[in-house]
Amino acid sequence: FGKKIVYQPSVKSTQEIAYSLARDGAPEGSIVLADEQTGGRGRLGRAWQSPAGTGIWMSLILRPEIPLQKAPQLTLLIAVAASKAIEKVTGLEAAIKWPNDLLINGKKTAGILTELQAEADSIHSVIVGIGMNVNQESKHFSEEIAQIATSLAIEGGKTYKRAEVIGYLLQEIESLYHQYLQNGFGVIKLLWEARAFSLGKRITARSVTGSITGYAKGITDEGVLLLEDDTGRVHSIYSADIEIPSP
Ligand code: BTN
Repeated sequence: FGKKIVYQPSVKSTQEIAYSLARDGAPEGSIVLADEQTGGRGRLGRAWQSPAGTGIWMSLILRPEIPLQKAPQLTLLIAVAASKAIEKVTGLEAAIKWPNDLLINGKKTAGILTELQAEADSIHSVIVGIGMNVNQESKHFSEEIAQIATSLAIEGGKTYKRAEVIGYLLQEIESLYHQYLQNGFGVIKLLWEARAFSLGKRITARSVTGSITGYAKGITDEGVLLLEDDTGRVHSIYSADIEIPSP
């Protein structure tokens, strides 16, 4: 991975650039990196704050030969890889909040946005966007996210070289990805569950269609979250925000 790297100081979103590269045939493992994004995108149509020089704003092109419905597995794979990379670099534990938030001490330090180009049931390419707060100080975060966001530097008490973090990240992604293509999702699922923040907890899954509160029982082989409500009914959650209600 990273044999083809497109670096630009300032872009609207690395996702857009990666998307058109992929459409034009860029090989698997190509990455797009920027120092700053002026229109960084998060999950569920939200914005992702990507100020200059403080974090990793990166999109990676994958071309897995897997059916479309297995694509969510890739998000979980990347979350495990990012969690491992953070632990290697900082020595701090990075928990995964379903599907793809990375938390240090309960605050979000990284997020993943997976977007697909597909035709019928076959995947043309997967664009994995990774945003990681590396050297921000608390004062850099807007008021809106100051309570919930953090960075490696805030939690680790020192600054980190972004290039080094990117190196670890690509190494972990590449090795898990090859393992996944060879052996399937089983091992990734176990690794994910071992790092999961919300499993076994009472949580609320909130989406545009409403919210459900219950116990997070686990994930399926497709990466779908299983939530058991108070009547014992188990819901499959494909896309939502997870909240841990205060007692
Ligand atoms: C989330 O947690 O909502 C996902 C955030 C993903 C942000 C990254 S930064 C690089 C790539 N380019 C974007 O515009 N978004 C992703």
